Amino acid sequence: MIIAIDGPSGAGKSTVAKAVAVKLGFSCLDTGAMYRSVAWQAQQNGVALDDDAALGEIARTYDIEFGHDAGDPLPKRVYIGGSEVTQAIRTAEIDKAVSPVSAAPSVREALVDQQRRIGNAGDYVVEGRDIGTTVFPNAEVKVFLTASFEERARRRVLQNAQRGVGSTDYEEVLADLRRRDEADSSRATSPLRPADDAVMLDSTEFSQEEVVEKICALAQAIR
Ligand code: DC
Repeated sequence: MIIAIDGPSGAGKSTVAKAVAVKLGFSCLDTGAMYRSVAWQAQQNGVALDDDAALGEIARTYDIEFGHDAGDPLPKRVYIGGSEVTQAIRTAEIDKAVSPVSAAPSVREALVDQQRRIGNAGDYVVEGRDIGTTVFPNAEVKVFLTASFEERARRRVLQNAQRGVGSTDYEEVLADLRRRDEADSSRATSPLRPADDAVMLDSTEFSQEEVVEKICALAQAIR
């Protein structure tokens, strides 16, 4: 079974996706981490962020892998081409570089292929922007998770502070969220939009536990 969780940056997708996966015994795939890894590798290789062919080459040839810590059911470590980038892909610099990288059609083509291969291997909660529309249009459960701009910025600042990486300046984070929403929604390839059959959940209205419960109930209803 695939549970697709899409929505804008900072809506709480990652936390919710992980909690749903643990509750249901599913694996979890963070597709944003894949786009971020390609952006990081492009910077390492000095590839211009508008060079579709070179970016696509990176996405096709560098292996992106997820690693588990001992005793942790969820893969929280991220590697590209054998380098661990778990923290390095969460910087403000990568927040900016990832927008043009994720708009590059050849990057999307290569990563969507990999995402399908991974997800088709078992029961997965997959989070991203285009999971219910493009990657898994036949996903059994589709959720589009949103929250107000202010709430999303507040959560992102807290998350960055906890991780010790990324900006903790509220106004800067808010401006970056607006910029990324605009870029994600207006790009030509797989723009951010809810699938027609997605269940819309506003996480400003519900606690995180309630959102997790609702998604688990949707999955259990069709099992
Ligand atoms: O979820 P995130 O903030 O880590 O995602 C990083 C960027 O990758 C985000 O700006 C949009 C892009 N992205 C995408 O275009 N498609 C996805 N399925 C996941 C993320």
